[in-house]
Amino acid sequence: MSSELSPIDKAKFVCAKRAAQFVESGMRVGLGTGSTAAWLVRCLGETVRNEGLSIKAVPTSTRTAELARRVGIEVISLDQAKWLDLTIDGADEFDAELNLIKGGGGALLQEKIVATASDRMIVIADIGKEVETLGAFPLPIEVIPFGWQTTQALVEETLVSMDVLGRESTLRMNGDAPFVTDEGNHIIDLHLKRIGNARQLALILNQMPGVVENGLFIDICDTVVVGYGDGKVEVRDINDGTVAKEQVEFGETQNLFSDLTD
Ligand code: 5RP
Repeated sequence: MSSELSPIDKAKFVCAKRAAQFVESGMRVGLGTGSTAAWLVRCLGETVRNEGLSIKAVPTSTRTAELARRVGIEVISLDQAKWLDLTIDGADEFDAELNLIKGGGGALLQEKIVATASDRMIVIADIGKEVETLGAFPLPIEVIPFGWQTTQALVEETLVSMDVLGRESTLRMNGDAPFVTDEGNHIIDLHLKRIGNARQLALILNQMPGVVENGLFIDICDTVVVGYGDGKVEVRDINDGTVAKEQVEFGETQNLFSDLTD
């Protein structure tokens, strides 16, 4: 399998495989959304099927729920779980403090609710997601459809007084129609280029009527597992300040992702 994967897919796979080792039997686990999180779900599914790992999982999107069920993971709702031991999710950007931009896959609302309801959040990301300053990746905000253009105008006006480099925003589309989230909302992507004060921006965006949530995850992530194309991983923990460098083997996973579509 490994010879068929691009370096970026190898990087995503190895960080997901390493992060799966943090999951223990009996845990309630939040499962993220996106291509890296999909690798994780596959890895966990394999451990459930082959090694009897017993977990209850709370997915962060209908896509992830479908995949988790398909690979044999028991899925429950967040209200059934109430609280989670661990959430593992991807990210679009992470900085040295492990603050994040998320929502590239449009699932930021459930992702933030689930991660916040967890004892620990582990982010899995290829090295290309690391940034010095957040903001090159467009920041998604979830808005309710009612009056979304008015909300967009208000957001752009508010950005004038914020420490950002760009103020353009675009409604995310799905073909010819606006993208619709699992909650029936829309996503507006903010092309900020550089976010000088992410903490302040996150607070201000969430005070605006019509904005349901923003994709800045501040002080939520505890650990990032960074993947490299050659199989190297780094486990960086913000709480104890450690960085562990390891090598993940690709072997014995030939058929693991043969029908992966996410
Ligand atoms: C979905 C997300 C994803 O975690 C993020 O977009 C990263 O995705 P990928 O692993 O496909 O690069 O936030 O809402």
